[in-house]
Amino acid sequence: MTHQRFTDIGACVFDAYGTLFDFNSAAAKYRAELGDQADRLSALWRTKQLEYTWLRSLMGAYADFWQVTGDGLDFALSALGLDRPGLKDRLMGAYLELGVYPEVPAMLGTLKAAGMRTAILSNGEPGMLAAAVRNAGIGDLIDAVLSVDSVGIYKPHASVYRLAIDRLGVPARRISFQSSNAWDAAGAAQFGFRVAWINRFGQKPENLPAKPDAELRSLAELPALLGLGNPS
Ligand code: LAC
Repeated sequence: MTHQRFTDIGACVFDAYGTLFDFNSAAAKYRAELGDQADRLSALWRTKQLEYTWLRSLMGAYADFWQVTGDGLDFALSALGLDRPGLKDRLMGAYLELGVYPEVPAMLGTLKAAGMRTAILSNGEPGMLAAAVRNAGIGDLIDAVLSVDSVGIYKPHASVYRLAIDRLGVPARRISFQSSNAWDAAGAAQFGFRVAWINRFGQKPENLPAKPDAELRSLAELPALLGLGNPS
C-alpha cells in the first residue's frame, strides 16, 4: 500500500494486544502440553474474547477485560475438550507475561529519542496492562497507559478513542494510532486519527466504512512513516 508520510504528529498511540504484545505467546508457553491444539486454542480464545467485548458493549453489560478474557478462554477450552485442572489459571497467568514483539523496544526508543509522546490505548484492564508493560520492560518508553475501563465500553466505540484526545490533550488529526487489528484500525480512522494498520498477520483489508491511512508490516517501519530516526 502506498502512503504519505504522517506529518505534524503530536502523539503516537498504540493498541496493546497483537500490536505490542503477542497474545499467541500465552498458549505457546504451554505448547508441550497442548500439542497441536495450541494454535487452535489461541485463535479461538482471541476470537471469543473479542466477540464478547463487542457483544457486551451492544448489550450495555460491560465487564472488565480480565473477566472477558477468562470467559473467552473458558469457551475455547471447553469447545476443544481441554478442560483440565489448573490449565485456565496457568494460561491466564501467562496472559500477564506476554511476549513483546521483537521490534517494539527499539522502535519506542527511536520515538522517545525524537521527543515523541507515546501512549497505549487498550481494551485491557489496567492491572493487566501494567503487568504486560512491566514484564516487557517498556515502562520508561510509554508516557501514558489508557484503558477502556474508565469509560466502561470497548473498542471500537468512539468514547474509547476520545479518551486519548482528552487525556493527552492532542487533537485527533495529530494522533498517529497503530493497531494490528484491522477492525480497530477502522474504528480509529472513523474517529479521525491518522491510522497505521500494522498488518503483521498478512490479513485482507476489512470492508468497513473508514480505511487506515497506511499499512505497515511491522512497527519497525513506523519511525520512517513519521519522518523520525535515521532511515536505513
Ligand atoms: C486491545 C485489543 C483490541 O489491546 O487488542 O485493545
